[in-house]
Amino acid sequence: MKKTLIAYFTRTGITKKLAENTAKQTGADLFAIEPVKEYSSSYLICVGQAKLENLQNARPAMKAKPQNLQDYDTIVVMFPIWWFTCPNIILT
Ligand SMILES: Cc1cc2nc3c(=O)[nH]c(=O)nc-3n(C[C@H](O)[C@H](O)[C@H](O)COP(=O)(O)O)c2cc1C
Repeated sequence: MKKTLIAYFTRTGITKKLAENTAKQTGADLFAIEPVKEYSSSYLICVGQAKLENLQNARPAMKAKPQNLQDYDTIVVMFPIWWFTCPNIILT
């Protein structure tokens, strides 16, 4: 049977809601991409953190990696737009 994984990153919960709704409608599995070092809850501080990661081409560490990726036919990655592109943890 074909399986789909939705791997998502969220900071304020909007992408999480979208990922959960999509998983509910499609039967996909969910995986939350979580940074070891949390981003600030202050928007302005987070904007600075994100810009720095961008400039440094950083690969922020993830708390965990998804297991058994080989079981999936399709992997969907969901994330908020940060500085016109993906947050650097998506590159990780
Ligand atoms: C660091 C940072 C950079 C952002 N850059 C953009 C951007 O370039 N364009 C945009 O439309 N929104 C930008 N946003 C807004 C987020 O994409 C938007 O609030 C998103 O819905 C948050 O999703 P989340 O709740 O899953 O974290 C930025 C937000 C942050 C924190």
